[in-house]
Amino acid sequence: MLGNFTYCNPTKIYFGTDAMQGLREELPKYGKNILLVYGGGSIKRNGIYDQVVAALKDCGKEIFEDAGGVMPNPTVEKLYEGVERARKAKADLILAVGGGSVCAYAKAVSVSVHCDEDPWDKYFLRFEEPSCAIVPVGCVLTMVGTGSEMNGGSVITNHAQKLKIGHVFGENVFPKFSVLNPEFTYTLPKYQMVSGIYDIFNHICEQYFSGTDDSTSDYIMEGMMRSLVHSSLVALDDPENYEARSNIMWTATWALNTFVAKGKTTDWEVHMLGQAVGAITNATHGMTLAAVSMPYYRFILPYGLAKFKRFALNVWNVSPKGLTDEEIAKEGLQAMEKWMRKLGLVMNITDLGANEGMLDDLVNSTLIMNGGYKELTKDEIRAIFKESF
Ligand code: NZQ
Ligand code: ZN
Repeated sequence: MLGNFTYCNPTKIYFGTDAMQGLREELPKYGKNILLVYGGGSIKRNGIYDQVVAALKDCGKEIFEDAGGVMPNPTVEKLYEGVERARKAKADLILAVGGGSVCAYAKAVSVSVHCDEDPWDKYFLRFEEPSCAIVPVGCVLTMVGTGSEMNGGSVITNHAQKLKIGHVFGENVFPKFSVLNPEFTYTLPKYQMVSGIYDIFNHICEQYFSGTDDSTSDYIMEGMMRSLVHSSLVALDDPENYEARSNIMWTATWALNTFVAKGKTTDWEVHMLGQAVGAITNATHGMTLAAVSMPYYRFILPYGLAKFKRFALNVWNVSPKGLTDEEIAKEGLQAMEKWMRKLGLVMNITDLGANEGMLDDLVNSTLIMNGGYKELTKDEIRAIFKESF
């Protein structure tokens, strides 16, 4: 491990079937006014809303609901609306109850309430850090995948500009606490469950497929990938298997809470390709990643051959006998593709609503990263998208 780093993660986690008790422990630490933020209504159908409101009322809080509900892939217009709502409520705490969209949106609101500048320009185009007071955020997680419950990530979509951009804020924007009850994920539709599972897997890939030094983080990530593949198949057959759901939930949190990235370079190009697809089609995040992954990794494999070989051997148990390094590496990707198809992931962007007429927009919307095994050119991005239809 060759990199220098500092590590601190300030989010307090309450995990397990009793995790909601943690909300009651946390609430007294904050002022009276709570901006309650949630999505399109799943929490009202599965009873989580009632549990949260009961805790808020028992703790004597004044509840201000964020009108309208947060849509998947929250938009910049919704962000402006939430900021106004939080200002009117004089929010002391923003409580996000939902998945990555709700949690990421809550963070974007939290850094914008006391900010005079346009948050889209400041945070998502100019990537500036907050220069104002930040309203604390707490989270009750209902959808597993993004790791937003224990990180500073916030992703906002601007349809007019055809951009979906993530800002990874510092520790001062991480949720102060997160409530993680694996049972809360039982009501997720299968499409969302597997999309979240692939989001987790890809977060690990983005951090694994980078660098050539011997790094503890890579060994940890191999273990996480093995656990995730195992638990995903159990949950696929038996969605209410607590053991599998809890392992998936905890892996998601650790896959993107900054821990495994420490001391490493990281890639994130699959997320840039996926976010371009998301900006233009508004498709589900994990599916956009699944749809571009195989063309990207097959293209990048020769540049990171040693790591792809290691991935095949250590994550997928490929038998190396009689095979060249390249053949071993390719078998690893084949095993990964087989697993993805078994989960029922969307494996091309056509099925997500993209078509060849969108190619220029897709290429123009893709940010180019330089931490992976090969910095892509615009032509290479175009070629990868062409393979993804
Ligand atoms: O809106 P409701 O009605 O609640 O329904 C949601 C939504 O339709 C539903 N859902 C959530 N929990 C449920 C449930 N349905 C039934 N039972 C439950 N328990 O699931 C749907 C998807 O929710 P969403 O929050 O959009 O999913 P996800 O957690 O995948 O979040 C995606 C967003 O997070 C961003 C993505 O780009 C996307 O905008 N990301 C955030 C990151 C971060 N903060 O670090 C990193 C990620 O890479 C990602 O980019
Ligand atoms: Zn992701």
